[in-house]
Amino acid sequence: PLYSEPFRPQYHFSPPEKWMNDPNGLVYHQGIYHLFYQYYPDDIVWGPMHWGHATSEDMLQWENKPIALYPDENGLIFSGSAVIDHNNTSGLGTADKAPLVAVFTYHDMEKEKAGGTDYQTQGIAYSLDNGESFKMYEGNPVLLNTEFKDFRDPKVYWDEDSGKWVMALVAGDHLRLYSSENLTDWDYMSRFGSDKGAHGGVWECPDLFKLPVAGTDEFKWVLLISINPGAPNGGSGTQYFIGDFDGTTFTSDQNEARWLDWGTDNYAGVTYNEAPGGERIFIGWMSNWTYARDTPTEVWRSAMTLPRTLSLSKINDDYTLLNYPLSGMSDLMNKEIDIDLEIAPNSYEAIAMESGNQSSIHFTCPLVSFSLSLTNDSGEELVIELNREEELLVLDRSQSGLVDFQEMFSKIQQMPLDNLPEGDLEFDIFLDASSVEVFVNKGQFAMTSQIFPTKSFDELIIRNEGSKELIVPDLRTFSIKSIWS
Ligand code: FRU
Repeated sequence: PLYSEPFRPQYHFSPPEKWMNDPNGLVYHQGIYHLFYQYYPDDIVWGPMHWGHATSEDMLQWENKPIALYPDENGLIFSGSAVIDHNNTSGLGTADKAPLVAVFTYHDMEKEKAGGTDYQTQGIAYSLDNGESFKMYEGNPVLLNTEFKDFRDPKVYWDEDSGKWVMALVAGDHLRLYSSENLTDWDYMSRFGSDKGAHGGVWECPDLFKLPVAGTDEFKWVLLISINPGAPNGGSGTQYFIGDFDGTTFTSDQNEARWLDWGTDNYAGVTYNEAPGGERIFIGWMSNWTYARDTPTEVWRSAMTLPRTLSLSKINDDYTLLNYPLSGMSDLMNKEIDIDLEIAPNSYEAIAMESGNQSSIHFTCPLVSFSLSLTNDSGEELVIELNREEELLVLDRSQSGLVDFQEMFSKIQQMPLDNLPEGDLEFDIFLDASSVEVFVNKGQFAMTSQIFPTKSFDELIIRNEGSKELIVPDLRTFSIKSIWS
């Protein structure tokens, strides 16, 4: 059957075959969520980029579509976004047919070889049939550049407050904001970030949006910036800034980087335009440039994270961005086990995982020291450890299956649990054939990692590493339905 190869994700999106990286053009229109993505249709390593395409009514079950955008005389099609031009400001649609407009980066390989700084520009393409087919705009590129070697990944949205289109894009070490009345003529507004956040590598894939602060009538602006390398556990990662945007300039409340996800495998993530109900839904690429081309799959390469709802909360007086799987995920889940655990110091409890790696695990417990191992009878083991003294969550995938295709893959990953609220910690762990996503406190902390166990894990072992009895009331496991069957 289709999609049953070793390591094939069963409830995460992966392309039917060949290489995929960043999610692109996330937009909702007339009942359809679009997922475009960086795609190379000829190999399972990165190559001349196209936009692949899939659609969904719920962001869980996906229908694969033909390739949406092909390279042309202006270059390869790098990352970008999509908008619905409701007022036909671009003139590319008609009064009663709003065009879906994709805004992307052209990467001109010939010019790159010539060694200049003019080879990344922005182009647009439009669709009058809700993404089924696209036409390239004849006046491409719409935003030229001669100054910056890196000048890419436009995220465009309609800014209600100022009544114009805003484009966020990155130029190496900073964000640049542009505005437009018609999606074809762009004016520079401002820049942000050369002196803020992490700069261990180049800035990529920005996203700028407004969110309500839970439980208040306040709004704050959030800026997502991917960075490669320079993430806390190595290679690629996603930082965020919380601040304000006055229609021209973004200012941040913080100087230091904060991380959306501490795991090694959540990169280039951006959010949907026009999601119903004002929801802010994020999808990331579940890989890391350090080893993306080396992972042991054969037919396709890499998958997306679960779609996650983003929200802002004030935790101990600190504005915090939370990311947590879509509530609709519960439609795929069926409860298997519900038990109370009382584990003595230095002792453990073993629980059979009937649905193996198509499962999730949920529980709450105080800040204590324990380890949670997922194992199989081939001796493979994925370990997640909570360390009370150091207030750390540790993920060790060094024995989790195939790991030696690249050096960094075996490194132990750490997530500092700073600024915990009073009370118990809440854990949600989602396991798929080649990934694990760990959420603490409904997304106050997230850790996403690829894994390549050669067999499904079938046992969960919880070990008390503290000096008092470990009490876990109500540990639940769920089986998760395949989206492909
Ligand atoms: C991020 C990225 C983007 C670029 C794309 C090329 O992973 O490097 O900056 O547009 O991938 O495929």
